[in-house]
Amino acid sequence: MHAPRIDLFEWLLQNAPYATYNLAFSNITGVTVKEYETVAHYSFPDNFDFGLNAQYGAEELKRALCLMYNCTPDNIVATTGASEANFLVFFSRLNQGDEFIIEQPGYQPMWLTPEMLGARRIHWLRRFENKFGVDIETLNNLITEKTKLIVLTNLHNPSGVFTHQKTIKEIAKIAEDHDIYVLVDEIYLDGSFISQPSSFGIPNVIVTSSATKVYGLGGFHTGWVIAPREIAIQCQKLKAHSTGAASYTSEIMTAHALRDAREDLIKRFQKRAKTNFEILKKWMNKHKEFFEWIEPDGGIVCFPRYTMDMPSVDLCKYLFDTQKLLVNPGFYFNQEGFIRLSYGCDEFSLQNSLDVLEKGLRNLQDNIDS
Ligand SMILES: Cc1ncc(COP(=O)(O)O)c(C=O)c1O
Repeated sequence: MHAPRIDLFEWLLQNAPYATYNLAFSNITGVTVKEYETVAHYSFPDNFDFGLNAQYGAEELKRALCLMYNCTPDNIVATTGASEANFLVFFSRLNQGDEFIIEQPGYQPMWLTPEMLGARRIHWLRRFENKFGVDIETLNNLITEKTKLIVLTNLHNPSGVFTHQKTIKEIAKIAEDHDIYVLVDEIYLDGSFISQPSSFGIPNVIVTSSATKVYGLGGFHTGWVIAPREIAIQCQKLKAHSTGAASYTSEIMTAHALRDAREDLIKRFQKRAKTNFEILKKWMNKHKEFFEWIEPDGGIVCFPRYTMDMPSVDLCKYLFDTQKLLVNPGFYFNQEGFIRLSYGCDEFSLQNSLDVLEKGLRNLQDNIDS
């Protein structure tokens, strides 16, 4: 099996250590031990055994997730991040020759991982002109007898656009009619400005998520699949071949955060997201000569279209080489002419980064004009 390079990750890993300004990472400033103890009221007891493992996930985590998703433990597979959660869903649903329908632009692993299995991607376009919304009309035409899975993110990565439950239900109904499943990656859903419960519970919907983004607990790297029982059983079996047990210690820490501090952590995220969104909006309104954008519905990423006529990788390399500013090329989300900006940093860093973005683009424009 050939594992394709994930360009987005390579770009970030190679350049981030040398960046002075970073509008590329899609997480917020992490929670500190002190913050954690203050909101979750938990620290490990002296006799806590760091040798413990739980192949089927820590009971505490499962209890917290049952409350969050209104599900039972047999709907849950505890994973190492949403990355492993998605991986397990792809491996449980897809085989060589199958087709999966994937939103475009999108998050690169969501098609490169299933392609490793020999499954074929079918693009489902979320058009800028349609405010990056999903288009139900076209979905029906994309389904064939080979289709096994429909894949989307809510909020949408890279645009931050929200998909309403009514629309998810319409998609799920189409899936049900064809006896297939919909994977909804909800890693950013709690960061939405429009509040909506998880889509788990809608027939034929599989949900994945993790504590890495909205909750600021990336270092724990605890994630989960929430799925109809028959899918959860398959994912659990597969997990024996990936990580076996995820980190029990992380699962316990995550469980306490979800049980006792979820609301506080969501508020913490939303405060950062809203403050930074306002700064960014002001900047975008002032710099229409550089960008057109669809305002995100929350979260901390957006996907503006730039006005310059050049490939997005070249544009981002220029900004990195001249300003030490790291932003992500739209090409890595399969959409040329765009860049992804992430703004989970503090306000001061955001303002400084936007200043150098302006400077870089102005210099570039002058070079092009002269
Ligand atoms: C849509 C989406 N899914 C999954 C992941 C990976 O999540 P995790 O860090 O929990 O593995 C990311 C990370 O950026 C993401 O944006």
